[in-house]
Amino acid sequence: MGEYILTVCYLIASVTFILGLKMLSNPVTARKGNLVAATGMTIAILGTIFLYRDETGTNLHNLGWIFGGLFIGGVIGTLAAKKVKMTSMPEMVSLFNGMGGACAALISLVEFNHIANEILLTGISTGYTGKVLIIVLGLIIGSVSFAGSMIAWGKLNGSVKDFSFPGQNILNLLILAVALGAGAYLVINPGHPFLLYVILCLSLIYGIFFVMPIGGADMPVVISLLNSFTGVAAACGGFLYNNKVMLTGGILVGAAGTLLTILMCKAMNRSLLNVLIGSFGGNKTGATGGTTAQGGHYKEISLSDSAMLMSYANKVMIVPGYGLAVAQAQHICHELEKMLNDKGVEVKYAIHPVAGRMPGHMNVLLAEADVNYEKLLEMDDANDEFKTCDVVLILGANDVVNPAAKNDPASPIYGMPILEVELAKNVIVNKRSMKPGYAGIENDLFFRPKTSMLFGDAKKVLQDLVSEIKAI
Ligand code: TAP
Repeated sequence: MGEYILTVCYLIASVTFILGLKMLSNPVTARKGNLVAATGMTIAILGTIFLYRDETGTNLHNLGWIFGGLFIGGVIGTLAAKKVKMTSMPEMVSLFNGMGGACAALISLVEFNHIANEILLTGISTGYTGKVLIIVLGLIIGSVSFAGSMIAWGKLNGSVKDFSFPGQNILNLLILAVALGAGAYLVINPGHPFLLYVILCLSLIYGIFFVMPIGGADMPVVISLLNSFTGVAAACGGFLYNNKVMLTGGILVGAAGTLLTILMCKAMNRSLLNVLIGSFGGNKTGATGGTTAQGGHYKEISLSDSAMLMSYANKVMIVPGYGLAVAQAQHICHELEKMLNDKGVEVKYAIHPVAGRMPGHMNVLLAEADVNYEKLLEMDDANDEFKTCDVVLILGANDVVNPAAKNDPASPIYGMPILEVELAKNVIVNKRSMKPGYAGIENDLFFRPKTSMLFGDAKKVLQDLVSEIKAI
């Protein structure tokens, strides 16, 4: 009976994962989707703990250890998630993803140990091919994901710097080839347990070397890729235990991670290979800070003029970018929007798919400030509406409005679709200096006749703008 209830628990969990994932695709339902999937996971975990029976009919023991682990992990996860700043989210995702990879690798180590003991006892080393194949795959993929995620985490928090040396890619391929070769040997001859530890070490080294040379700012793409690795490693665990919910969950994570990686690359108009070996947007400490590296001239606008221009506009489009997230200016931005609305000005937001540093960054940021989702326009819709705007207010965005993506074939961002803000009558750009953004390149938009620069931290500038508009 318990077995059937457990199957139903797994079925419910699998369905909630799929529904949850679907609900995550819309900010309105995203929170609920997260809860739905988490509920399914809880059902699967509790079902396994209380209803699972092995071939001999024995249930799980060591409940103290299991609930102790659940409690400690639950407390750490809850506190970390509550404390984390939105801008540090990719860091946390990387850390948690690494833990998933480590779990998958540990499962492989533990399960191989059982096989090694059986071989020692019986002296028969045949009949394990399928199991060992899955174990080796889970170990390699899980360890690469763990080591790579840890390096990505270090790069994002600044404790690990980019590192590469000539011939590194060839060495990487060599390490991977030796690990795979050792894995193939172990699959055929499972009586050599030490090989498993050789594979583990090689995979960890590969994971480190694989992520080390990739530019620090490309980490979100790499994390998404590693996330898909973890999903596949977890699916290996599902095969191993013949556990359908683990298999479904792993495959969903693997597929979602792969799709997200492809989408991010597409939105930046870069190939995955370019991200992996291009060393683009790395830890640039000496990024060009000159105001007019191209000899261009930019004009500034005062707070009062900006306030006046927006107050008497019919329509204002706000373009949020990474700087808005850094300044944590989303709430005051929403206040500005409401204030302009009260004056009869229509306000909308233009959202570029890779604005910020993680997928959906701007949507999450603005949702946090209770901005009505209906006011958020996707890139194509925004590009259709710019021509009807009197003012475009760019808040801490740079690359996503850089016209070089359209008209400079030599630019590293050439081909990336951008927000065509110049179609509007006036463009106000708020940032702190003339320094470049993530791509490390100058932005010709700042020197164009329609553009005026409004320098300062986004939060401070918006607070001052709100005060000015109040006074009008
Ligand atoms: P960026 O091009 O990085 O520009 C952000 C700008 O914000 C900077 O030029 C900076 O100029 C300004 N800024 C920083 N702190 C500020 C503050 N406190 N107040 C006001 N301004 C501030 O950002 P974007 O336009 O959002 O473009 C995103 C970039 O990240 C794209 O190149 C994209 O390809 C890349 N990327 C995105 C993702 C995802 S999934 N979103 C993943 C990987 C890479 P100052 O220093 O002069 O203030």
